[in-house]
Amino acid sequence: MQFWKYSTSALATLLAVVSITQAGGPADGEAAADPNSAVVKLTSENFASFLEENPLVLTEFFAPWCGYCKILGPEFSKAADALNESYPKIKLAQVDCTTEEALCMEHEIRGYPTLKIIRDGDSKKAEDYQGPREHEGIVDHMIKQSLPAVQVPESWDDLEKLVEEQTKPFVLQVNSAADDIFNKVANLKRKNFAFIDVDKEYLKQLGEKLGKDLQKAEYLVVHPKQLADAAVYEGKAELEKLSEWIDVETVPYFGDIDRDTYMSYMSSPLPIAYYFYKTPEEREAVSESLSKLGKKYRGKLNVVGLDANLFGRHAEAINMNPDILPLFAIQHIEENKKYGVNQTEHPEGPSVEVIEQFVDDFFNGKLTPIIKSEPVPTAEEIAANPVVKLVAHNYNDIMNKTGKDIFVKYYAPWCGHCKKLAPTWEELAEIYGSNTDDAEVIIADIDHTANDVDVPYEIQGYPTLLIFPANGEVDEKTGIRKPIVFEGQRELQALLDFVKEKGALKVDGSELQAKLKKEAGEKVEDVKEDAENLKEEVEHDEL
Ligand SMILES: *[C@@H]1O[C@H](CO)[C@@H](O)[C@H](O)[C@H]1NC(C)=O
Ligand SMILES: *[C@@H]1O[C@H](CO)[C@@H](O)[C@H](O)[C@H]1NC(C)=O
Ligand SMILES: *[C@@H]1O[C@H](CO)[C@@H](O)[C@H](O)[C@H]1NC(C)=O
Repeated sequence: MQFWKYSTSALATLLAVVSITQAGGPADGEAAADPNSAVVKLTSENFASFLEENPLVLTEFFAPWCGYCKILGPEFSKAADALNESYPKIKLAQVDCTTEEALCMEHEIRGYPTLKIIRDGDSKKAEDYQGPREHEGIVDHMIKQSLPAVQVPESWDDLEKLVEEQTKPFVLQVNSAADDIFNKVANLKRKNFAFIDVDKEYLKQLGEKLGKDLQKAEYLVVHPKQLADAAVYEGKAELEKLSEWIDVETVPYFGDIDRDTYMSYMSSPLPIAYYFYKTPEEREAVSESLSKLGKKYRGKLNVVGLDANLFGRHAEAINMNPDILPLFAIQHIEENKKYGVNQTEHPEGPSVEVIEQFVDDFFNGKLTPIIKSEPVPTAEEIAANPVVKLVAHNYNDIMNKTGKDIFVKYYAPWCGHCKKLAPTWEELAEIYGSNTDDAEVIIADIDHTANDVDVPYEIQGYPTLLIFPANGEVDEKTGIRKPIVFEGQRELQALLDFVKEKGALKVDGSELQAKLKKEAGEKVEDVKEDAENLKEEVEHDEL
């Protein structure tokens, strides 16, 4: 899925902060549960069938060397035994990620131990376990998890009390017709929201409380303290549709991004408006107004708060200065565009009026995105460097030299393979006289972390080497020629061959090189032989 890749890389900084990796740490018992205990060892062989047979399984993904796993191991064994005695339907299981790599990759395990509650065999919809980590706590938590996800109040008083004590958005079923679907949805989302089934008997009273006629309603999402704004489901009673609708409607009008909520924001295709704040007071001061704003733009824009003490780095990723707070910015992940209220003009943070105007301007297409760029190289710098340095501010001009084959290295400053390639890339550029006006082949590079540029190719690691053949077909969305990716060994001869083969001008770099060498009075070496001696694996650094 294109969008997922896009959003996860765009928000890599956020993910880095919120994901927990608990490698190492203190050690105690064995990470693997006692083989005589009731903990079930899962492998790729029995994983699916075991989960299908057991409706509620707490699964621990672990590594034998991980310190916190060693502490958990004995507790996990004890909890499994206790449950086996009193609640035999609740199972505890373990997956050793050092031997079951594929299973752990499939479940996107990022740190050890990771505990997931898996229901009805659906491991893709597993919830992260966030309960205690000692045996009694685990047992209690799992017993609670086994209780029905849907609450059925027995009297109007109970219902009213339940509605009033909710602190998060919750879901109501009225005129219950499709209990089965409601129960399934409730099971999937029980960690996040309360699900309440309302008996017909209380419909009238509830309708009065919410200010709605509920005779024809089926499902409602209600936000605490905003009862009159309850959303009514109008689609068909289908599991997937209802589930999606709940996801949209339960997003708070002005919520915070944190470990629990970031996934729901990331999986939404809507642009996100961020209010970065330093103190709870700063957040409180705008809370009511930004809630109104979120309501006004429901379904078009997600408005969120972000604690800059925790997520300051993300401000940099959207081209804002994390030192000038509060700040307000909009990120359109799908279009890869970022917009921010000018921080020079609002050093104390933007007022609510400024924010409202800004969002209005955003939807009227009046804003200019903030584009991150390194400075454009000077004439001296261009002359001194055979590799043409691309930055956001010269990128389109240079990429627009349609009569030339352009070969670009997209790199990140921290990437080791990129550094290793640098001397070869320079040699390549010298061969084509890449920085001169009459060069047919331009060898270029760009620090992709410091420059916002469009690439009509999904970059998944650094370095990525793309050739844009002269007069090639233009990608509609970006206006840039469609590139061809280089996937061979990253050494000179292979690169020369690639330019000759894939470039539109068929420039023979080996010939140019031989000529250069002759001119320099050097012996012509057989570069091909060198190439064969190089048997290095082609690797991409991770984003
Ligand atoms: C689980 O409980 C059953 C029934 O009491 C018992 O037969 C079995 O030995 C128990 N399993 C373990 C691993 O303790
Ligand atoms: C922000 O405002 C200042 C002062 O008006 C202006 O000089 C600067 O160019 C603006 N910055 C951006 C990114 O528009
Ligand atoms: C490239 O140049 C053409 C013609 O000069 C122009 O119409 C087009 O907008 C330019 N594209 C970019 C991406 O700058």
